[in-house]
Amino acid sequence: MAGQVVNQGINIAVFISGRGSNLQAIIRGCRDKKIKGRVKVVISNRRDAGGIEIAKKHGIAVFVYEKKKFSHKRYQQLTDFLKSVDIDIIALAGYLELIPPVLIRQFENRIINIHPAPLPDFGGKGMYGMKVHQKVLESNIKYTGPTVHLVDGQYDHGKVLDHYPVEIFPDDTPQLLANRVILKEHQLYVDVLSKISTGKMIL
Ligand code: GRF
Repeated sequence: MAGQVVNQGINIAVFISGRGSNLQAIIRGCRDKKIKGRVKVVISNRRDAGGIEIAKKHGIAVFVYEKKKFSHKRYQQLTDFLKSVDIDIIALAGYLELIPPVLIRQFENRIINIHPAPLPDFGGKGMYGMKVHQKVLESNIKYTGPTVHLVDGQYDHGKVLDHYPVEIFPDDTPQLLANRVILKEHQLYVDVLSKISTGKMIL
């Protein structure tokens, strides 16, 4: 990967399960040359994920691996495929499935995830969507904000790479908070991928 960082940049695989606004931000980040590299493939475990259309619109290859068909062997095939197309970094962007050891072993320290709140306090199994922002508001903290971390085989658990603070206002609702946090997510994910792609952040 070191050579590619210097030369053609990094090949990114983005994993999605839903609307794909982070995917869109990463694609833009590559287009605007903030990220030195490209989204080479998009992997979705749902065929109705909104992000699939975004990928197709940009001419990016999409592979749908539906959850019911997933097995250890299937992830082995996926791992082999990602290696065959020279993926350097896997960026999970709203991918609602635990990454199994077979993939983590082959892409050790090269799988990252974005979470819409501070970790480890507001992450873990079942902590996604509005539930995260609800819990943040119940906790009476003053700042929340997205976190990018390495993926290590447990939900929302690996080493934290970066975090942007987002202030919480007294009249916030989960939805209002989500609306502000998602904008910061887009900036943060592009920023982290930019640093990785230019060698400023070593994983
Ligand atoms: C984001 O809030 C991300 O932090 C979380 O899932 C959501 C995905 O949103 N992991 P989108 O599909 O990128 O719009």
